[in-house]
Amino acid sequence: MGFGAGGDRLERVDLAAEKTIVDTFKKHSVSFTLISEESGIRGFGGKAEACYVTTDPIDGSTNLMHGIPFYATSIAVSTEPALDTVHSSLVADLFHGVTYVAEAEKGAFRDGARIVPSETVSLEEAVLGIDINSYKIKSLVPRLNEVIVRTKHIRHLGANALELCYVADGTTDAFIDIRGKLRSTDMAGAWLILQEAGAIMTDANGKPLKVKLDPAEKVEFVASGNARLHRLLLDLIHVR
Ligand code: IPD
Ligand code: CA
Repeated sequence: MGFGAGGDRLERVDLAAEKTIVDTFKKHSVSFTLISEESGIRGFGGKAEACYVTTDPIDGSTNLMHGIPFYATSIAVSTEPALDTVHSSLVADLFHGVTYVAEAEKGAFRDGARIVPSETVSLEEAVLGIDINSYKIKSLVPRLNEVIVRTKHIRHLGANALELCYVADGTTDAFIDIRGKLRSTDMAGAWLILQEAGAIMTDANGKPLKVKLDPAEKVEFVASGNARLHRLLLDLIHVR
């Protein structure tokens, strides 16, 4: 056991998952630059800058190690190491055997069926994911106080890539992570799935996400099923 490029403890299963991803691209003779939470940035093949593969091989490692059935593999393929150039992505719910995929301008799919987000606009009815897993909780909670007070059903399931896909397919209504702690490798795959499903994902100021794909790059976001709920959440969140 060691430490991954994102700074977390590295379990053998995470490395095995990364190796499987790398081997699969190699098997198809793809030259690519791997941007991984585990081993950082590495080139494979003759034209490594032709294609960028950003992955969190296991999102929800703690769930997996504790036998909690909620963890995923996330992969995003882009033309540049930048989130807005991601054109194809996959998030696989490994326990339930459910796969989310998206291709730019072709929609988002869950096991082959097109997905759309929720139309819920009321916080009383909404199921809202909030990641409050942070040692900076004392400064985080005041920013989220009004959202927490007005929401009846708050969740954090422990694998943010998959929780974002739950917003994309309407299982939940929104997901907020404004800790400043989540790596870009964790959310790159889900980002395109949300876009293509028609959900909304911005920073806490409502601005489009400008994210460098790098294990060291941290991201804050609010993701919602629809524009009205998104506006309401942005109005309630205290920005820094
Ligand atoms: C973690 C999960 C978790 C979030 C952590 C992430 P990992 O990913 O997405 O929900 O709270 O910040 O690091 O470490 O299991 O890949
Ligand atoms: Ca991981």
